[in-house]
Amino acid sequence: MIGLGTMGAGIAEVLAAAGRTVIGVDADQAALDRGRTIVETSTGRALERDKITADQRTALTERISYHTDFAAVADAEVVIEAVSENLELKRSIFTRLGEVARPETLLATNTSSLPITDIAVASGRADRVVGVHFFNPAPVQRLVEVVKTVLTAPSAQTQALELVNDLGKTPILCGDRAGFVVNALLVPYLNRAARLYQDGCATAAQIDEAMVAAGNPMGPLALIDLVGLDVTVSALDRMYSETRDRRHAPVALLAALVSAGRLGRKTGQGILLQAEPRPAPLIDRSAELPDALLLPYLNDVCRMVEIGYATPEVIDTGMSLGCRMPRPFDVLADLGPAAVLAGQQQIFAATAEPGDRPALLLERLAAAPDPAAALTELRAMA
Ligand SMILES: NC(=O)c1ccc[n+]([C@@H]2O[C@H](COP(=O)([O-])OP(=O)(O)OC[C@H]3O[C@@H](n4cnc5c(N)ncnc54)[C@H](O)[C@@H]3O)[C@@H](O)[C@H]2O)c1
Repeated sequence: MIGLGTMGAGIAEVLAAAGRTVIGVDADQAALDRGRTIVETSTGRALERDKITADQRTALTERISYHTDFAAVADAEVVIEAVSENLELKRSIFTRLGEVARPETLLATNTSSLPITDIAVASGRADRVVGVHFFNPAPVQRLVEVVKTVLTAPSAQTQALELVNDLGKTPILCGDRAGFVVNALLVPYLNRAARLYQDGCATAAQIDEAMVAAGNPMGPLALIDLVGLDVTVSALDRMYSETRDRRHAPVALLAALVSAGRLGRKTGQGILLQAEPRPAPLIDRSAELPDALLLPYLNDVCRMVEIGYATPEVIDTGMSLGCRMPRPFDVLADLGPAAVLAGQQQIFAATAEPGDRPALLLERLAAAPDPAAALTELRAMA
């Protein structure tokens, strides 16, 4: 395990809990000590909650060793990198791994938003490189996005999927695109919610309450504060740089709050956690909720399937396990493809955004003689 910060220490714990011997590497002794403390705190909590016994905890922590020298991973079967989100740093680490690790070793990066192909090629053996995108906190979250690049060998992909299953996690396989599956669907939805709020279409409470009433564990604005405005904006920036879809450009309010240092819960002030309340909307458009947020999201879901990037099952698993949101294809089935299409056509007519154009797949489903049956058939696809 390279990098023992929040994610690296969490993944190290998951590996050790599954019985693996973990070689932890970080930049210096202070970082290793921090990593060890993260594992001790987390397993201590698991012990208090009776999730593990004292003996299991001891065995788990003893399976992790701590090193500052990369040569320590020379004989590792798998190397997972979770250092700070910086492309040059990650590339230099993969160059080093290409030198020290065995040729057959699976090399994986936990990056959330960097192009995995760019990291992989630095190793000189990109066929052995995948993304394994764990969610925070790694010991608790079940979902892992396994990311293959155009260079990943099928055997490396299989090995990564088997590893994730062995760890008791649920993998979903996807390609190397900005946001993978979960963030590519979540983050544009958050941006859209921020835009409605910024443009005074509805109050923050109306926006969040409408989405909670639609079955989500929290509203999008509260979620932005939880995730962090900086994290949201950088994920949007990366998507926008890849898609050039204006809907992915972070809205001005988010960017301004980031510049102001109001990053959400971690700084005490964010989009909801603002010092002054905002004035009431001039023209109340709250009646358009939740459709104004839900339908473009479902449309993006359909497009992701339409282009062959992910199956309905992968998307349903990703959004339900990764975000605790209702399974998108359940929502689509409940509302009915024809109603979703009609609503999305109105939204597209109003925004004229190319990205809001109804997905061909949605049109196809709505036009089927029996849309419900067509949707069921689609969901069964492998
Ligand atoms: N925090 C999250 O919610 C989250 C979720 C999923 C994925 N990620 C990804 O996981 C990665 C790590 O994120 P984090 O939140 O754990 O960061 P973090 O800042 O908590 O940890 C980064 C670790 O990398 C170490 N490091 C820095 N330079 C190093 C070097 N040259 N050699 C070895 N170690 C070095 C640091 O000392 C630190 O321990 C990032 O790529 C991030 O995008 C984060």
